[in-house]
Amino acid sequence: MNTTKALAMLIAIGLTGQALALDLTPQEEAGKRLYREGVSSSDAQLTARVGASGMSVPASVLPCASCHGTDGRGRAEGGVRPPSLDWQRLALGEGDRQANSRSYPAYADATLARAIQQGVDPAGNRLDPAMPRFDLTLADQRNLTAYLKRLGEERDPGVEEGELRLGTLLPDSGPLAEAGHVIRAVLEDGVARLNQQGGIHGRRLQLVVLDPGPDQASAELALERLLDQERVFALVTPLAPMLDQSLSARIEQQRVPLIGSTPRSGGSTQIFDPMPSVASQLLSLASHARASLGLAPDGLRVVYAGADQAALAEQVRERLQEQGWSPAPIEAFDGQAVEGEGIVFLGRPQAFAELAAALQAAGREPYLLAASSQVANAVAGLPAQWSQRVFLAYPYVPSDWTVQGLATLSSLEQRLGLDPRQASLQVNTLCALRLLTEGLKQIGRDASRERLVAALEGLHDIDTGLTPALGFGPGRRQGMAGAHVIAVGLPGPRFTSVAPYRPVPDSL
Ligand code: HEC
Repeated sequence: MNTTKALAMLIAIGLTGQALALDLTPQEEAGKRLYREGVSSSDAQLTARVGASGMSVPASVLPCASCHGTDGRGRAEGGVRPPSLDWQRLALGEGDRQANSRSYPAYADATLARAIQQGVDPAGNRLDPAMPRFDLTLADQRNLTAYLKRLGEERDPGVEEGELRLGTLLPDSGPLAEAGHVIRAVLEDGVARLNQQGGIHGRRLQLVVLDPGPDQASAELALERLLDQERVFALVTPLAPMLDQSLSARIEQQRVPLIGSTPRSGGSTQIFDPMPSVASQLLSLASHARASLGLAPDGLRVVYAGADQAALAEQVRERLQEQGWSPAPIEAFDGQAVEGEGIVFLGRPQAFAELAAALQAAGREPYLLAASSQVANAVAGLPAQWSQRVFLAYPYVPSDWTVQGLATLSSLEQRLGLDPRQASLQVNTLCALRLLTEGLKQIGRDASRERLVAALEGLHDIDTGLTPALGFGPGRRQGMAGAHVIAVGLPGPRFTSVAPYRPVPDSL
């Protein structure tokens, strides 16, 4: 290999993954630990004196980052606000600075140490006691100061002066290409409209779309490229089921927020899914079965088809139990006529049709309860015998659509030439984009991934005009908790709404 080639390779390696993190000297690295974790470079325990009374607590309980943020940009909420510790702002600019109605000249190393240790700013103003005073050794103070000078560079990928980069993975060929094209059209249209209105907090949104390719390896490469080379800030509605097993781990590692559907292997604190989990949708069906079909507490059985559904089936059974059911143990369907007054089914359309046929052959007619997202394709082919015995969960139905929501959707379909039969893909994408932009608007100009996650957690009662109100919470990563219950009439199928969406409690 010649030198140029070797160099190019080195640079390429250097451009991936962790190597992109700030390159810190050992001293700055020690300062970073103090800043983030409140620990000293020596064995000594650091203390912070808190509040007007000066009570001592370990600094590890109150590290700087807990108030000023890991990115040092301070916090916008609360009364006395922890200001931004950007070195440019503290020390380099001309003229006086302002924070919490104090006015003071530029900081220098010595005055900075005095602020941190004694709570006095360069003008001699006392800092509010909400800022603890820290007892630091000379070495610790030097480390901390060194790091504070670099802190401003600790910026999340994808956030530029005038641009914020979002990314997604959408197939351009293969069986999911059509869905990929719909999602792409809706996203690009939404981004273009936001940019026409001036973007968000003075930044234009840029959408980077990559094709995940045919298999897991190609999809992982595409994700890698999106995060490490394209350096996108957040992911929105990727469509790459082959990443179901690895996606959560990968985005957790880099703390990348994702707004879109939950992978089949389960959720993650980084993933905000506008739609309800399959489990909570099935619980809505069970509530209806108890209230209106008169099923006894031991009348339900959770049946699943396909090994990939087993964990979910068990989860559903446990949650049924929490809600006062005494369900039989979960059962794997393999062609047999299962027992039970009501069957909660998890699996694909084909297996659902086979289950119905096996039951019919055995002369059984239980109620069949399933998520529309899993089995809807199978119901049209069911014999008339199943009329009003099949109940499907739908996260939203056309009656949720407000006049404005409907207008948004039909103008979108017209403008982009989309098929109304794919309305649910369009609605899901619109909802994800809506929640993402709502979160981005709330975090203000100091965009960081951490702040976006916190802002998304704080979203409640977001009216999309197309779904029931959406919202998240500290432990809540699904925009809805439950679904409408729809009875299926056959032949047809004819769909009748028999119970509206009511959020089911997470757990007891
Ligand atoms: C419990 C929350 C909290 C912690 C922990 C905390 N601060 Fe503060 N800090 C504040 C608040 C609130 C202010 C604003 C005080 C004021 O304006 O009167 C502040 C002010 C400051 C200022 C003055 C900035 C200015 O513009 O005058 C500096 C410098 C500072 N903090 C650095 C640090 C460092 C370094 C650490 C960690 C060793 C730290 N802070 C830990 C809450 C905190």
